[in-house]
Amino acid sequence: MIRLAIIGAGSMAGEHAKQFQALDGVELVAVCDLDGGRAQAFAARHAIPAAYTDLEAMLAREEIDAVSNVTSDAAHKATSLAAIAAGKHILCEKPLATSAADAEAMAAAAREAGVINMINLSYRNAPAIHQARELIASGALGRIRHVDASYRQSWLVSHAWGRWDQDSQWLWRLSQRHGSKGVLGDVGIHILDFASFPVGDITAVNCRLKCYDKAPDSRIGDYVLDANDTALMRVEFACGALGSLHATRWATGHHNSLSLSVHGDRGALRVDLDAAKDRLHVCLGEDVHPACWREVVAPETPSLYRRFIDGIVKGHNDQPDFARGAALQRVLDACFVSDAEDRSLALAG
Ligand SMILES: NC(=O)c1ccc[n+]([C@@H]2O[C@H](COP(=O)([O-])OP(=O)(O)OC[C@H]3O[C@@H](n4cnc5c(N)ncnc54)[C@H](O)[C@@H]3O)[C@@H](O)[C@H]2O)c1
Repeated sequence: MIRLAIIGAGSMAGEHAKQFQALDGVELVAVCDLDGGRAQAFAARHAIPAAYTDLEAMLAREEIDAVSNVTSDAAHKATSLAAIAAGKHILCEKPLATSAADAEAMAAAAREAGVINMINLSYRNAPAIHQARELIASGALGRIRHVDASYRQSWLVSHAWGRWDQDSQWLWRLSQRHGSKGVLGDVGIHILDFASFPVGDITAVNCRLKCYDKAPDSRIGDYVLDANDTALMRVEFACGALGSLHATRWATGHHNSLSLSVHGDRGALRVDLDAAKDRLHVCLGEDVHPACWREVVAPETPSLYRRFIDGIVKGHNDQPDFARGAALQRVLDACFVSDAEDRSLALAG
């Protein structure tokens, strides 16, 4: 039995509790949030026996094997380092940190402590992306020549997920002072992983970021609304292909849409998670001439939550680990420099 504690009791933590409680061999034993009322309510809602506001006190409990870190982005580094120092295996939400230097420090600490470490790049749960990676690795698409990927949200327009202008869980995401790296850090990291996991490392970026006006003086209460809400990235992959990657909170008509197209000189594939998580479309072989697309059903993939627990049991660190989180964070940092200095940047291999 793996005894697990959750750090952060906000909206995404509910998904972690649900996913871990559905797994055999996992017991949720504690939760910690700076907001005591929230921690108590979360514990009651998910039948977790102990709630804390003091992280060190919770981590001092030796019977806790692992933690799931679901705090807001700015808190990931300090809380993760504390958990690692206490010898706990750790699954941390994305982005790993708010800079590559911090993310690298977290990856180094986890490696040195020998704890299992993973980052919750949750779209790795979609079987289609694993099948896309296998197809590309098999050479079925030939040499990759063009990549197109987008992450479209609309919570600055649609009220489906609540009111961005009234709720702290959205307001911190809009404010650099509250540790947000904008849409780029929030879901841009997902689309970077979604494209580069199957296609390969990104070696150069050119990025344009934009923050549209949303409120008088760009401020609501303590929140200065200055974080980017649209990101356009032109990237080059190690295989030489160019790609166009987008992330925005202004994609009116889309709640949460991820799509990827990869085109090679012998074939192409498309993944559209709105349509299905376990299907992709391929255009291969003779089908390239009439541009005929066929559906492929991808085999099931164990969830990242399952793979984290299995990794602890077997002593094997699965992917994506903190080192992967740090590598993606180097791309994010380069995107910020590219935007600020209006130039392309090469990334060290
Ligand atoms: N992987 C995904 O698909 C996905 C989806 C949504 C959110 N997330 C990530 O999950 C994290 C949480 O997002 P959310 O929407 O739940 O935010 P939220 O604001 O609803 O919750 C964050 C919680 O963390 C708590 N917290 C902050 N600092 C803390 C600290 N030092 N110690 C203990 N608790 C602390 C806050 O009080 C709050 O309750 C973010 O990093 C976000 O990027 C990931």
